[in-house]
Amino acid sequence: MADPQEVLSQRVRSALGAALGADYAGTDPVIRPSQFADYQANAALALAKKLGRKPRDVASDIVARLEVDDVCREVEISGPGFVNMTLRDDWIAGQAQDLLADPRLGVPEQPKQNIPVDYSAPNVAKEMHVGHLRTTVVGDALVRTLEFLGHNVIRQNHIGDWGTPFGMLIEHLLEVGEHSADADLLKTDPNAFYQAAKEKFDTSEDFAVRARRRVVALQGGDAETLRLWQGLIDLSKVYFNKVYTTLGVTLTDADLAGESTYNDALAGVCAELERAGIAEQSEGALCVFLEGFTGREGNPVPLIVRKSDGGYTYATTDLATVRYRVEELKADRIVYVVGAPQAMHFQMMWETARKAGWLPESVETVHVQIGNVLGTDGKILRTRSGKPIRLMALLDEAVERATRVVAENRPDLDEQTRAAIARDVGIGAVKYADLSVSHDTEYVFDFDRMLALNGNTGPYLQYAAARIRSIFRKGGLAPEDAVGPIALAEPAERELALALLGFGPVVRLVGDTLEPHRLCGYLFDLAQAFTSFYERCPVLKAEDSTVRGSRLALTAATLRTLVQGLALLGVHAPERM
Ligand code: ARG
Repeated sequence: MADPQEVLSQRVRSALGAALGADYAGTDPVIRPSQFADYQANAALALAKKLGRKPRDVASDIVARLEVDDVCREVEISGPGFVNMTLRDDWIAGQAQDLLADPRLGVPEQPKQNIPVDYSAPNVAKEMHVGHLRTTVVGDALVRTLEFLGHNVIRQNHIGDWGTPFGMLIEHLLEVGEHSADADLLKTDPNAFYQAAKEKFDTSEDFAVRARRRVVALQGGDAETLRLWQGLIDLSKVYFNKVYTTLGVTLTDADLAGESTYNDALAGVCAELERAGIAEQSEGALCVFLEGFTGREGNPVPLIVRKSDGGYTYATTDLATVRYRVEELKADRIVYVVGAPQAMHFQMMWETARKAGWLPESVETVHVQIGNVLGTDGKILRTRSGKPIRLMALLDEAVERATRVVAENRPDLDEQTRAAIARDVGIGAVKYADLSVSHDTEYVFDFDRMLALNGNTGPYLQYAAARIRSIFRKGGLAPEDAVGPIALAEPAERELALALLGFGPVVRLVGDTLEPHRLCGYLFDLAQAFTSFYERCPVLKAEDSTVRGSRLALTAATLRTLVQGLALLGVHAPERM
């Protein structure tokens, strides 16, 4: 089956060539959905100026050469020279029929690229906060989508597992005891462990001295210190994995590639940058100065790769990382799903890597910027006491609230079934809220809104899928058995079929733009198209068996598209709700 927009573009392109000559055969005509017809092409308007002709004349030349009888019912010139095109019902039906038979639902398989995707990346011994939640959820939707498009996705969880705080964390671990309840906090409330260590560091000079000495031992590779460090990491992993399991994200221990992974490469990174004249000494530090990166008074902002105390930085590690991803992982495209405030860091780091020859022009790097999550007061989400919100507490609350809703709506289901639905709905609501707005804008974290059963929410789409399943249950049929043939008579049937053809194009778009909210918007529109269809067109009670068969097929295709679309977002659609 084909993307109507793609088909019409091709046809218009050939008509352009035929009407205006070979020079125009390559013109990319813009074809848009339109309120006056299914689609509208503006090629004539775009070309008229160049040709010094009236747009409407150019349009009629194009239309005269346009061969679309098999696809379009009507082609019309409108306004200043738009070409309006209305598809044939039987063409749409045929495409929808192909879609029904396609396990990929019209999603193209793309030429395979190696794509490391850097996401989640919490810091050890610190609570994952809502910001980390959002990169985790958005990143996971992207890896699922890119994989479905046929790419070789390499998940890279660049956790913060190295640096000066580890001196105090290790000393604190020694004081409380490696196998104590305090140490076990790392598995449940890592921020509390961090706070306790920090408290000692800030108030006890003696502790601070030991902590600093410990950092030196850690960097020097002292065996006992490394063992304690590893213990901290292992306890933190338990916590991360608990969050990942609760969220249902695809990250595993095998995807961990924390900052410490690159330690051995840092000295070499600095040496090579210095040798190549890309980095220079400045006030005792080794810095890269890049054109165009200046501070408030026009002073150049350096990318520091070695501090005056000899320590390496976040930037040094990222330079080693990008090099690894290019050389070892053979990346074609590298995706970083990280908070928007780090935009300048990535710009400078990539430019440095390009200069050094570690990041060839052929490898594309993308920063998928993650915007802040705000509380209902419009400020960064915190608890009333001003502390960062605990992620697990937030997820627990979402499930708890969903439990209440399910208990109210479905007293007929047994407890176990209800609990499973509540998990899907609560977690799905939180994830969908992260995904449905463009990833770089801020949004307000509002339980009532994300759990609402109407509007562009996870529960609304889950409910739409569950309702379709109940239609099949009621009819005593399996969705797989609804094979058509699809025939379109009612406008609402036509709308739904056309909406179904949009799935492949939107998934491809998400792969290109790395914007999952486009898929959310599509699924919401599809669910609404289904609702209108279902209100106007009886399915099980259709007057004639051919009509019934066709409508059941449309219904089945909608279900599969909703379930597959939600799966690409990492949202599970329960059987009933
Ligand atoms: N750990 C960092 C943070 O919490 C994010 C790391 C992102 N990835 C990277 N390659 N720099 O802000």
